Formats: sequence, C-alpha cells, structure tokens
Amino acid sequence: MITIQHPEQMQAKAIELRQQGKRLVLVPTMGFLHEGHLSLMRIARQRGDVIITSIFVNPSQFGPQEDLEAYPRDFEQDEGLCRNEGVDILFYPGIETMYLPDVSVYVDETLLSRGLCGLTRPTHFRGVLTIVAKLFNICLPHAAVFGEKDAQQLRLLRRMVRDLNFPVEMVSGPIVRESDGLAMSTRNKYLTDNERREALCLRHSLDLAEECYAGGERDVSTILDAMQGVITGSSSGVIDYLAAVDDENLEAIDTIDRPALIALAVRFGEARLLDNTVLGL
Ligand code: PAF
Repeated sequence: MITIQHPEQMQAKAIELRQQGKRLVLVPTMGFLHEGHLSLMRIARQRGDVIITSIFVNPSQFGPQEDLEAYPRDFEQDEGLCRNEGVDILFYPGIETMYLPDVSVYVDETLLSRGLCGLTRPTHFRGVLTIVAKLFNICLPHAAVFGEKDAQQLRLLRRMVRDLNFPVEMVSGPIVRESDGLAMSTRNKYLTDNERREALCLRHSLDLAEECYAGGERDVSTILDAMQGVITGSSSGVIDYLAAVDDENLEAIDTIDRPALIALAVRFGEARLLDNTVLGL
C-alpha cells in the first residue's frame, strides 16, 4: 500500500494507472474506520484492480456548532486496517491542499438536500457533494463505493453523478450492524453505556416498520406513529426526524404505494444517529 498526501500526486498516479488499463475503485471516508468501512473496501476489491481509500475529515460538511474538532481520528489504526484489507492507495490529504484560502466554488443540490438531514444541517450536503466531486476529479475512479446508512447522502451523490455527468459508477454497500442490531457509525463512540443500550430502539423501530408493512399496512402515519412509540417509549433519544419519503426523489409520501425510504435521525446525548430501511422494493 502506498500513502499519497498531495492531490496533484494522487491525480498523476491515477492517470498513470488508467493508462495501464487498470480499473480504479474509490472508497471515500472520514477515517476512524470500522467494520462498515471495511465492508465497502471488500466490495471495492470485487469491482476493480486498484482500491483507493481516502481519509479526510471534511470541514465543509460540518456546521459551525457541530463536532468537527471532536470528530474521532486515529490515522495509525486506519492505516493498519487499510493495509489488512488490501487497499492499494491511501489518499490522506492535508486540509490546506484540499481547500485553498480563497476557495469560491462549491457543488449545490437544490431539491433532495432540503428535507431530512438538510432541515437541521443546511450546509452539510453542499460540503459532502463538493468534497466528493473533488475526490472524483483527483482520484479519477471508474467506480466509487458508499454506505447505505447515509441514505440521503447516497441518493444526493447519485443525483450529482447523473446531473453533472461524472463518469463514475456508483456502488452502495448495505448497512453493517453490531451483533445486537445497532448500525455501525463513527459517532457511536460518543454514546455512554446507557445511551448505547437505549440506541437499540432505532433498529427495533425499523423492525416494527418492516413488520407493519409485511402485515399489509400502507398508511405512513400509522407506521411512523408505531415507530415513534418504540423510540420514545424505550429511550431518552430526541427525535430529529422520522420520515417516510419516495425512495428516489425523497418527497414525503402518505401511502407506501412505491419504494419508500423510512429514515430517522435521533439524538442520544452527544451523538446524532442515523438509520433507515427501504420498504416496497
Ligand atoms: O460518508 C462519509 O464518510 C463522508 O460524508 C464522505 C462521503 C467521505 C465525504 O466526506
């Protein structure tokens, strides 16, 4: 595995590998890698010849009151994990090479980014789309792999690739869960033991939604009320949102008469956790 820190060097390496006919697959991350990230690297391995993993805690996707400084980092551990997974290139740029002091161009999405996480994190997706567009231009991947836990992010990135004609195949990896069902997330680290136990209600509420749907229920408010009952009845979690939206355009729906994304964000102390399921596929 080689580690490259400078965007120009990374781009030159990507051009060289492409000229050799290699198929490049990118797994963008913000580091502090867990089994969820590693599963994406394994998917990448099956999709190409050269796996590039990027580690960059992207400041532009954090709001002013958010956890940029506190966001966990452990480069040495991440490096070892990447090596074990057979990553070929670790791209680890410094902030000053990714954002020049007078940066003035960003990628904005105007529809899918408005609801769900966009309601409380109004500048978040602009930061995500901008950094991923930059990573695509620097790493020149044929394909890129993203996790399904960040459901809105994944749909927005697919929309960016479509609307801006990026020649990148978008691949997604299923949510990886702890053995008790909690979706893996870097932010799980913020949970106290009690919050960690309570956070299981997220998976339980999604299980209930799936059971309701399997039993023939199609009314969104009935399903969401039942989910809310599970969360508020068994935890001190503060619901940021609990929503059923059209799986493609993320518009709110009343009835599950097409594939529907059931998505939630709930705060437990310092941690804001996301989880989701898709009904009606
Ligand atoms: O999902 C993440 O970890 C980040 O949002 C991403 C896609 C690496 C962009 O910084």
